[in-house]
Parts: sequence; C-alpha cells; structure tokens
Amino acid sequence: MARTITAIDIGSSKICTLIGEVTEPDVVRVIGIGVVPSRGVSHGVITDLEEATLAIGESIQKAERIAQMTVTRAYISAGGPHISSQNKSGSTSIGKGDRPIDREDLQRALDAAQTIPVSHNRQIIYCTAREYTLDEEAVTKNPLGLLGYTLLVDAHVITANATSISNLANCVRRNHVDIVEYVPQPIASATAVLSAEEMNDGVAVVDIGAETTSLSIYVLGTPFDTRVYPVGGTHFTNDMVVGLHTPIATAEEIKLRYGHLLPSAVPADEKIDVSTFGEQVISSIQRRFVAEIMGARMEDILDHFILRDIKRSGYDGLLAAGIVLTGGASLSPGMAEMVQSTLHLPARVALPRRLHGLTETISSPAYATAVGLLLHGMRRETVDRAIPVMEGNPSLLSRVIRLFRNILPK
Ligand SMILES: Nc1ncnc2c1ncn2[C@@H]1O[C@H](COP(=O)(O)OP(=O)(O)OP(=O)(O)O)[C@@H](O)[C@H]1O
Ligand SMILES: [Mg+2]
Repeated sequence: MARTITAIDIGSSKICTLIGEVTEPDVVRVIGIGVVPSRGVSHGVITDLEEATLAIGESIQKAERIAQMTVTRAYISAGGPHISSQNKSGSTSIGKGDRPIDREDLQRALDAAQTIPVSHNRQIIYCTAREYTLDEEAVTKNPLGLLGYTLLVDAHVITANATSISNLANCVRRNHVDIVEYVPQPIASATAVLSAEEMNDGVAVVDIGAETTSLSIYVLGTPFDTRVYPVGGTHFTNDMVVGLHTPIATAEEIKLRYGHLLPSAVPADEKIDVSTFGEQVISSIQRRFVAEIMGARMEDILDHFILRDIKRSGYDGLLAAGIVLTGGASLSPGMAEMVQSTLHLPARVALPRRLHGLTETISSPAYATAVGLLLHGMRRETVDRAIPVMEGNPSLLSRVIRLFRNILPK
C-alpha cells in the first residue's frame, strides 16, 4: 500500500489540508484537499481554541472525504511573528578515527547544536544542518561514510513561542490527529518554490499572506535566516478602508479587481466606482489612487522588514538568484517589478512546484506553504528515511478514538 502524507497549513485567512500519496521516491500525488476560511487564527497564531479546532476539523474532514481515508498524523505549519532563527554549531567526537561517520553521529552533532539557552517561554521547533567540518578543516555537506575524529555541524535553529505551539498542538490533537513535525512556515514556502540552483546561488523567499509576511534567506543550499512579520494582504485592504472611506468587503473587492502596486502603470484617466460608508452613494475615483495606497504599503513592508533584514544578514548584494515572491498577496499586479526596482535584485512571483493528482486548486502562490509542507513530509519519509516524531507515539486514547472514527459512518 502506498504511503500517505498529510500537511495542514493553518493560515490567517484559510486552513488547507493536503493528503498526498507517495507513488515512488520523491513523487507525491495529491489525493485529498480541504480548504476552509480560517477562524480563531490571527497573525498566524491561535486566538480562539474552540473556533480554530472546529475550522481545522472541517478542513481535515473535507480532505478525508475526497481521499476516502482517515487522517491520523500530519505535518503542521508553524507561523506567526514569534518565529525566530539563529545559526549555531555543535560538535561530537567520532572516536579514534577508525570507523565511518554514520547517521547517529550526524544526529549527535545536531543535538549538540541545539543545547543553546532558550528562555522558558521559547522552544526549538526545527533544526537543520547547514554544513559540517571534519577535524577542523574539511568542510562538507555530506560527511556520511568519511573517517574523522571530530565532527562539527553548523546548524540553522528555529525557535517559537512555546505556548503558541502548545495552542496549535491542542487544536490539531483535539481533532485526533498526531503531529509528526512542525515545519516553520518560511521553510515550507521556500521548499515549494525554490530550485536547488536558487538555494545554492543565494536567494530570499518572501511569502506575503493575509496577516503575516515571511522571509527566508537561503545560501549555499541551506537556510541562513528565517523570520515572520505581522503584516500582509489584509493591511492593503485596511489602508483602502481608511483611504477610500469604504467598507472592508468593498475594499477587498477593489483590491482584487483593480489593485496595482505601480501608480505609473495605471492610466491617469482610469476611473472606478466605489461605494462609500454612511450615505449609500457611489463615488468615482481614480484607479491610480488605489495603486498609490497599495504601493505605499508595499514600500513600507520592503523598507521596514525585508530590506532591513536582508542587510542585517550580511548577504545584501550577494543574493544572486534575487527575490522569489509567493503567498496570496504576491498576486497583486506590479509585484515583481516593484520589488525588483526597490531592492535592485531580480524578482519573480512563484507558484508552488507542480505536483501530480488534484492540483487545480493549489496551483496558486497562496498554497506555497501547504505544498511545501507536503514535499517536506514526503522527503522526510522517503529520502531522509528517518521520521522525526517529535511528539512521541500516539496515545492509547487517541488510537481508540481513531478506531471508532474508522468504524462509524461519516
Ligand atoms: N489576486 C490577488 N491580488 C491581491 N491580493 C490577493 C489576491 N488573491 C489573494 N490576495 C490576498 O492574499 C491574502 C491571502 O493570502 P494567503 O492565502 O497566502 O494567506 P494565509 O496563508 O491564509 O495567511 P498568513 O500566511 O498570513 O497566515 C489575502 O489578504 C488576499 O486578499
Ligand atoms: Mg500563509
């Protein structure tokens, strides 16, 4: 029987469950999709346990119905501005240098890199090797099988607010689904949209969602910096509520129909009709004004967050593959041109990698995180061959509940 993998992206505007079937190593076929509007989630974190649990459950059930199976374990995206990252090293002794380095040695070195002081309200949710150094000189990405005395790993460690993660876990577990691994949202999105060449050449992925924007900087094939900011597509809409004096639903519609980030690209005489607050009147405004509002917000996101942190990383001017934009709000016309001219780097808007099976819905930048989660899970369970079950084995109670779910008619 083919192995199935489930990914659940809990976003601020939508929750997306994807069920994939691994048909052969490194090939995943989507057999179930469940997308529902988010409830109880704000800026990427759970703010209402009951509502979020229900919404996550609806998303899972939709996907289960299509895939005709019961989900028992899943890879979960961890988002929100509480996510932060650092690069740390850790070393392990191999012994007398007379035996080849094995996977356990790699894990011991990674464990050592994670022995960092973490305040009581933070926890490490993700750790990946960037490169290894053998006996203080030979630098390698893959030391397996080599001989050496000491192995040092340079690792990218991502931490999160411990209570935010516990709240997320509670919502998922209340739906009788065990968490295989938390994948930070910036890592999942990058996994979906980057080629191996871009990761090697140096690239920044910017996922602009509804209430958060994430940044991940990859150099030499691995993540160097990952961050999440509390701004997103909703801010463009809210700016228009204020600027055009229009209700939120109208502002969102105008953004989707007439939005643009480059005022100069919109004809000066183009007018659009807008219904305003209070009096039921329709006023005619210049579409260019909408572009000015949206352009100003995008400039702010780039200056205050993206450019600032690319500079802080020290890779300013060294990201040869430029900027890859994704997330629902990256669909605003003029996005790539604006980012390119502001940051003086090549920029493109990216769809998630094309998968097999039910891919029509997910062929949009808004699904980059969900697709990346599925790809990450597939690689963990086929290519890496080691399944890091962080949360321990399913409890007896959840196994019994699942047994009943399988027996009872849906
Ligand atoms: N064609 C479009 N033009 C402009 N904005 C768009 C378009 N389509 C979607 N959006 C915006 O994208 C945002 C939703 O993006 P996405 O689905 O990636 O968010 P999310 O993953 O739910 O949220 P987050 O990642 O912030 O937690 C909304 O603000 C929506 O208005
Ligand atoms: Mg998102």
